[in-house]
Amino acid sequence: MHWKRKSTIQRVCAALPAKDAIYYFLQRRFGSLRYTPDPLPMLRAAAEIFAEMRGMGIAVAGKRIMEIGTGRRLDMPIAFYLCGAQSVDTFDLNVYLREELVMASVGEILRGREAVVTILGPVVGAEELAARLDVLASVQGLKDLSQKTAIRYHAPADASNTQLADQSIDIQFSYTVFEHIPGPVLEAILREASRVLAVGGVACHHIDPSDHFAHEDKSLSLIHFLQFEEREWSRYNDNQFAYHNRLRRSDYDRLYTAAGHEVFSKHPFLDDASLAEIRNGFPLATPFQGREAEDLCTVVYRVYSRPGGAQGAN
Ligand SMILES: C[S@@+](CC[C@H](N)C(=O)[O-])C[C@H]1O[C@@H](n2cnc3c(N)ncnc32)[C@H](O)[C@@H]1O
Repeated sequence: MHWKRKSTIQRVCAALPAKDAIYYFLQRRFGSLRYTPDPLPMLRAAAEIFAEMRGMGIAVAGKRIMEIGTGRRLDMPIAFYLCGAQSVDTFDLNVYLREELVMASVGEILRGREAVVTILGPVVGAEELAARLDVLASVQGLKDLSQKTAIRYHAPADASNTQLADQSIDIQFSYTVFEHIPGPVLEAILREASRVLAVGGVACHHIDPSDHFAHEDKSLSLIHFLQFEEREWSRYNDNQFAYHNRLRRSDYDRLYTAAGHEVFSKHPFLDDASLAEIRNGFPLATPFQGREAEDLCTVVYRVYSRPGGAQGAN
């Protein structure tokens, strides 16, 4: 779909009284939610991140996880569960979770059990994984899932004010969520991490600073949105379903510093096609002019931090 068309649909839906239900209906009828959910890509992403964590001495098994930005399904919390997490508290500002999608996803995990074992096998013991898959197979609906797996959904709930007890969490986590949250709220979320993380706790955030309209409209580059001045961009962007903060890698670095976090590992992934566009004179809007191409063309940024000066989890 042409990105401006999608933007118009998002803007119109966001202005309607029953906006969430209408947008969900359109996504189910005409959008990506038409298809049976495929949880395997999320499990692969989880396996990659958990392996990376293990390389840094951070185990998932036995840990209390706080996730930000649940979305429509529970694939990432389920990945944490399958890999031995003690509990997952997942927060969303909006009540987007849908039981039918969660259960369809659980069904796909069970149908693809062999593939799941191949994906998660390198990061969790075979017996533990088999036992947890058996639990998943016994689940009858969302409430039962929550009871059996200790995955607790909090929505509507702002991750910057979780009501969780002080020092009650080991890992604060998000996957492709930070880019949808305004900078001042992100700073508050990292400060909340400093409050809720136990001694040795860490934050891990996997950020996608690319233009999300380009994910669907393949005629766009991943930095397409950097050409718009704030005023024009806000016309496409300032609604609940489209919002992207357009923060670049160095902006995130500043946020972490302002929130008092010590970043101990960061992984920027650069897009070669975007770098070539910058070299060829891509017309950058004022806020992005004069900045380093690597800063602008980081399209995935994974950041590990701990509240100022504390020791890392193990
Ligand atoms: C793109 S979705 C990510 C969904 C999921 N993580 C995934 O990868 O499929 C971003 C989510 O962040 C949520 N969100 C935005 N601001 C938030 C906040 N302050 N606290 C908690 N969730 C928030 C939105 O409601 C939305 O569900």
